[in-house]
Amino acid sequence: MTAVTIPGLDQAPTTHARLLTWVQEVAELTTPNEVVWVDGSEEESARINAKLVAAGTFVPLKKKPNSFWCASDPSDVARVEERTFICSVDPADCGPTNNWMQPAEMKAIMTELYRGCMRGRTMYVIPFCMGPLEAESPMLGVEITDSEYVVASMRIMTRMGAKALAKFGEDADFVPALHSVGAPLEPGQADVAWPCNETKYITQFPEERAIWSFGSGYGGNALLGKKCYSLRIASAKARDEGWLAEHMLILKLTSPENKVHYIAAAFPSACGKTNLAMLEPTIEGWKVETLGDDIAWMRFGEDGRLYAVNPEFGFFGVAPGTDYHTNPNAMRTIERGNSLFTNVALTDDGDIWWEGMGEPPAHLTSWKKQDWTPDSGELSSHPNSRYCTPMSQCPILAPEWDDPKGVPISAIFFGGRRATTVPLVTESRDWQHGVFMGATLSSETTAAAVGQVGVVRRDPMAMLPFIGYHAGDYFQHWIDMGKNANAEKLPKIFYVNWFRRGEDKRFLWPGFGENSRVLKWAIERIEGKASAQETAIGHVPAPESLDLSGLDAPVADIEAALEFDAQEWRAELPLIEEWFTKIGDKLPTSLRDEFEALKQRLG
Ligand code: PEP
Ligand code: MN
Ligand code: NA
Repeated sequence: MTAVTIPGLDQAPTTHARLLTWVQEVAELTTPNEVVWVDGSEEESARINAKLVAAGTFVPLKKKPNSFWCASDPSDVARVEERTFICSVDPADCGPTNNWMQPAEMKAIMTELYRGCMRGRTMYVIPFCMGPLEAESPMLGVEITDSEYVVASMRIMTRMGAKALAKFGEDADFVPALHSVGAPLEPGQADVAWPCNETKYITQFPEERAIWSFGSGYGGNALLGKKCYSLRIASAKARDEGWLAEHMLILKLTSPENKVHYIAAAFPSACGKTNLAMLEPTIEGWKVETLGDDIAWMRFGEDGRLYAVNPEFGFFGVAPGTDYHTNPNAMRTIERGNSLFTNVALTDDGDIWWEGMGEPPAHLTSWKKQDWTPDSGELSSHPNSRYCTPMSQCPILAPEWDDPKGVPISAIFFGGRRATTVPLVTESRDWQHGVFMGATLSSETTAAAVGQVGVVRRDPMAMLPFIGYHAGDYFQHWIDMGKNANAEKLPKIFYVNWFRRGEDKRFLWPGFGENSRVLKWAIERIEGKASAQETAIGHVPAPESLDLSGLDAPVADIEAALEFDAQEWRAELPLIEEWFTKIGDKLPTSLRDEFEALKQRLG
């Protein structure tokens, strides 16, 4: 063995033995030019951004302070679910919704991909913490990456650098998360603006609590604190420890009487979580504040209530469709600068633009880095283009957003994007029925993942691409969480659909700020103030119980949005049957019972 000397390797600002050993091993395998221990400082951030500008990856925006435009390789624009693996030791702990490979086999393949993969590049070591730093057991991780874009993005999305490393001490547990774009540079070889590799693997080892990612620089594939850690790895840990790691926004709702309720809501990617999290109510006297837009970790508190914490530190929102009408608070957040924009369009005066922002300028640089004019006949921005912006800049951030205790959840919303069948809002009969609603949630696919858009698929709890173990065991875990709790203190579960359409395909419900009416109804149900009608699928608003005052929409449309249609639901039954068959033997009998009861009620 020859001792490898890589500049920076010996500059470790830690004595944490396991971390030091791992960093050394990765450096020897990937052979970078140098190693940088990321401290998260302003100076370091300026250095990294300057390097990205020099490389042609970032274009500084003239119109927004400390903000950058970036275009990815056109092939690297979304999460790659086909290339995402849960490598559990026992295949029975995975699937049928996940891809599985034996851990040793996957490691052998990926080790060869990683061998020398950082040649000509810098290897960054990013200590990070998901959730509040002041938590009793801070949820630590370290991402090793050869991408400056990842360093800049992780700085926005996580609590990272020296403040996170301070929590490691000598031997704190952490999730090692290895990432490479898989694009080594030979001596003299010029870099490209967005290095990546055609071969991609996004791999989770749930027992080891480790993450290996290769070949992509895109968000959910590369910012490993987000989906890989906070959902896939965390869901497996949560099952073992009796809590929940969920694909949910967290919002605070205050009534005109100053009563506070917290709501967590799960919708599939690109179905409006960020918009709901930052909603501006259209009804008098109600106020929404934001705690998170994508992920919630929930545990029972000593008082028996379910408390939620957002593990993230920033928003990674879908840009198109976002503007001052649909999500003014997201616009105000990004206006404050310190933000990254990926795969949107660049204006000639150094600002960003995307579809949904009103009238397009006469000329833009498209996300494909081509000249674009309104008659170009294609989109200026990729449908999955993103803004990445610090949560702390959100003008309606709830003051308790960083409280390690979390916030007590009154209601859980599940929702999908369905043109038919699913009414605007349905309240579950009880926890188990609510779990059935979540387990059978369906939605039309979006651009957030590679693949066909607009196809109805089951997306249980909006976690289809994110469950870190077997979906049947996951459902059982949800059931058990309810069984072991005080039923009185459990959140009430609702099923919503903002996306039902009329005959001419128009949306029946105006959505956005008007969704506050549905939040109000849910809270009034919890407080015993609003009435409901019982149907085969659950409780729907009784006429007049949903506040429609001042709503500018055709009454017939609202009625159609709210309608429970038994015939449509009978047509849904074979799809649920097919889904449950796919789950197989591990489907909890209680969910099978719920399904049989639904069939009975539908007659
Ligand atoms: C992503 O895809 O990178 C991402 C953050 O998530 P989502 O698709 O849920 O928006
Ligand atoms: Mn998401
Ligand atoms: Na995505």
